[in-house]
Amino acid sequence: MQTSMASVGHALHQTLVFFNPRLSNSFKILPLPIARSFPPQKQRSRWAVSSPAFAISQSSLHQSSATQDDALSVGTDEGAVEGASAIDVNPPRGTRDFLPEDMRLRQWLFQNFREVSRLLSFEEVDFPVLESEALFIRKAGEEITQQLYNFEDKGGRRVVLRPEITPSLARLVMKQGKSASLPLKWFTIGQCWRYERMTRGRRREHYQWNMDIIGISKVRAEAELIYAIVLLFERLGITAQDVGIKVSSRKVLQAALDKFLIPEALFTKVCVIVDKLGKIPVDEIEKELTSLGVPVEAVKGIVNVLSIKSLSDLEDILGSEGEAVADLKKLFSLAESYGYSQWIQFDASVVRGLAYYTGIVFEGFDREGKLRAICGGGRYDRLLSMFGGDEVPACGFGFGDAVIVELLKEKGLLPNLPHNVDHVVFAMDPSLEGPASAITAALRRKGQSVDLVEDRRLKWVFKHCERVNASRLILVGSSEWEKGMVRVKNLTTREENDVKLDELDLFL
Ligand code: HAM
Repeated sequence: MQTSMASVGHALHQTLVFFNPRLSNSFKILPLPIARSFPPQKQRSRWAVSSPAFAISQSSLHQSSATQDDALSVGTDEGAVEGASAIDVNPPRGTRDFLPEDMRLRQWLFQNFREVSRLLSFEEVDFPVLESEALFIRKAGEEITQQLYNFEDKGGRRVVLRPEITPSLARLVMKQGKSASLPLKWFTIGQCWRYERMTRGRRREHYQWNMDIIGISKVRAEAELIYAIVLLFERLGITAQDVGIKVSSRKVLQAALDKFLIPEALFTKVCVIVDKLGKIPVDEIEKELTSLGVPVEAVKGIVNVLSIKSLSDLEDILGSEGEAVADLKKLFSLAESYGYSQWIQFDASVVRGLAYYTGIVFEGFDREGKLRAICGGGRYDRLLSMFGGDEVPACGFGFGDAVIVELLKEKGLLPNLPHNVDHVVFAMDPSLEGPASAITAALRRKGQSVDLVEDRRLKWVFKHCERVNASRLILVGSSEWEKGMVRVKNLTTREENDVKLDELDLFL
């Protein structure tokens, strides 16, 4: 400590200059901060996790890029209380931790969600993850209502971790009441919870990007939403050969039920059952429909209608007058104008498993058929009135983060997203930690990202620069510092220069 204070003393009569952001390239003179240095061992002990409750076994640490020194700073058995048992380091089943590299991927995906939403002039909204259970109580037998993470809070209120976002959005639109100027074009990205059987891309928590349009009854709204999905696929490098979007309308099923005089009250329950087509055997679906009271002849008729794969066949059966055919024809003609017809296809079997849809419904799928639905949505004109509000036309979609990442992996389209910083600043001597801090602070004020490292050997610092993909290494060494200079190493060109502080920004 004595020695380091002495060299700081030597530098004290010098002045430390740094860039003043308000005065552009001019300098402000600061007194040199008194250096306080921590010996390496002390540094480590400041970060070491010593509480036995947090004891982590070494083998389970993710240490792909960590050095032995780093490992020490994360936690060791040192100091663990005898008899204490280590906690399970895995998160609850079906949930995820996000390491820095996972966060970079997540943020990249979310930025793409946000950018597409911006391109379509949508505004971002947000809702609590914890909602009232009442918002999700529906009686159509939907899977989602059986997968709720629901409980009573300490005040005795029934609450849920939301399994989807649409009911929250409807709640907020109702809360806005007449003050909302329609149409609303809202998007959100949020975590949803479903106690789901886990398969590839299906988890117990996932993030969902939702885009919804409230207040437009025309098919233009659906055309815009599907366009947003296509735009996202294109931005991610996914082509129409990789994925498609199946489109139908609940009005197709409605027309079939009307033909067989099935009571209106059974509509949502029938939708939820026939949504399982392709997931469970047809005879089981037929059994479920029959036990609901749908006559056998009607069951056969419904299953037949749902097997239609072309709009002209649908028109032959339902005629061209009905809303189902008219809506779908309009959507396909708009798709032509937008230029995304090759991405969409009519498929009457798409019904969607949520009770509240009333019109056009759609689902993104991978053409190889390896994954579950990539995204899904549709028109839900009666959800607000089901909640006791006015009938307001609405439609939207949800797009999860998990299936798309699986698809990107599958197609070799995962982006390379390394951690990177503009500069690593390294004080070669503990006595220079003051100047190194000031240089770092000045660069950061200039908007440059800086990783300040100390108490390491130079060899480690060079390795570290590689690890964090630094563009430059700024070495604060005593001989250069005495001349008011630092050594700047450009890590791309390998060029090295001693640079005066007032010229440093020429090298940024
Ligand atoms: P959904 O089809 O239940 O619709 O979910 C939408 C998307 O969320 C799915 O296509 C999938 O990408 C993702 N997703 C759903 N469950 C899981 C899970 N367990 N694990 C991973 N990803 C999952 C809805 O939620 C509607 N509320 C969408 C909507 C918005 N409709 C109108 N507006």
